[in-house]
Amino acid sequence: MWGGRFEAGPSAIMREINASIPFDKALWRQDIAASKAHVTMLGAQQIVSDADMQAILDGLDAVAAEYEADGVPEDWDLEDIHMTTESRLSELIGAAAGRLHTARSRNDQVATDFRLWVRDALEQADAGLEALQKALVSRAGEHAGSIMPGFTHLQTAQPVTLGHHLMAYYEMIARDRSRFADARARLNKCPLGSAALAGTGFPIDREMTAQALGFDAPTDNSLDAVSDRDFALDYLMAAAQCSLHLSRLAEEFIIWASQPFGFVRMPDTLSTGSSIMPQKKNPDAAELVRGHAGRIAGCLSALMMTMKGLPLAYSKDMQDDKPPVFEAAGLLALSIAAMTGMIADSTFRTDRMREAAELGYATATDLADWLVTQADIPFREAHHITGAAVKLAETRGCALDALPLADLQAIDARIDDRVYAALSVEASVAARCSHGGTAPDEVRKRVVQARQLLGME
Ligand code: ARG
Repeated sequence: MWGGRFEAGPSAIMREINASIPFDKALWRQDIAASKAHVTMLGAQQIVSDADMQAILDGLDAVAAEYEADGVPEDWDLEDIHMTTESRLSELIGAAAGRLHTARSRNDQVATDFRLWVRDALEQADAGLEALQKALVSRAGEHAGSIMPGFTHLQTAQPVTLGHHLMAYYEMIARDRSRFADARARLNKCPLGSAALAGTGFPIDREMTAQALGFDAPTDNSLDAVSDRDFALDYLMAAAQCSLHLSRLAEEFIIWASQPFGFVRMPDTLSTGSSIMPQKKNPDAAELVRGHAGRIAGCLSALMMTMKGLPLAYSKDMQDDKPPVFEAAGLLALSIAAMTGMIADSTFRTDRMREAAELGYATATDLADWLVTQADIPFREAHHITGAAVKLAETRGCALDALPLADLQAIDARIDDRVYAALSVEASVAARCSHGGTAPDEVRKRVVQARQLLGME
């Protein structure tokens, strides 16, 4: 397409390094839509005739139909999706095809196509995350009162409820969704009409193309518009953060499904067996979600490195923007779907969770709190007394509430038999009724609120 200026064709290496069609063919729908919006505007502004506009529109529909039926052909000489489409268009409709590229460049074209693609990816991620939230909220409602050990340092800390634990992930996902929504709001301006870098002298109507493609407005600086990939980075940052959350949830399932824990039975549909050990049921889907988070963070880092230090305006480095975004989007969609299935279809072994909550002196803080509120002992001293009680229970190999009153009173005479009511795991969770606490009533309130926000009521 630049035969006038060059004497020799590109070497084989040049052809190969230059070609982005192997991956940017994924943009074909966006490329056709943006071209249709562009030529409709060129027609409306009488920059091309109505007849040519119509021929180009029909031709683009024909190319789209071919792509849909047979896929996008990969000819490295045509470099990318933009030249591939234009070349096919000119085969189909002849010389009029040459008018499509009036007042635009591949630089504003690719910036526009890619924004449209990322916008779809943002919307898909959001829809997937909404489904995940619904699954979390449903299971949390079922288990608002199911007691499990809460951990810090993965050591038993205080009893919590499974519903509370699941709702923690609801909160993380809510923040992810707000990050995707933020990214969408910033993304939604249309670069088309910025041309190569400086804008164009043709009397184009940028409002019209922006509107036709569902953007809020045209971008305001042509140099920025063709060289900005913040929207892709915003997407990857939100995706990376989200994948970190998913990896944490996946890790919990991996731990919970292990035999010593036995807190959860994962659905067969999301597990695999072992070819040698017949008893094994491996949490492969969860492990891959955990692993994918690393790859998604790698995609973010790849694009950051590509963009670092690039002068204005377009540089060919930016062609490398697409593979990491495509890769991350695929991995994220799969991860979200896998975790949604895991939440919805796992069997929680509440008996095992409760048993574990009874072990590990999870209600020691409740004893200390009881000493503060009922015996007016300063918390530091209460902490010390409780430590002695835990030590004694440990030596005896029994739970705190299995220590006879006489033994507790030998540690501190101010203890009386009302203390036992505070030492059960039920009493412990019920007492944690501060806003956002683990008390079953509090968890139920959060679940009701979440169900309303998600339109589940
Ligand atoms: N394939 C290119 C890309 O993805 C399209 C833009 C090419 N622009 C240029 N000036 N060579 O970035």
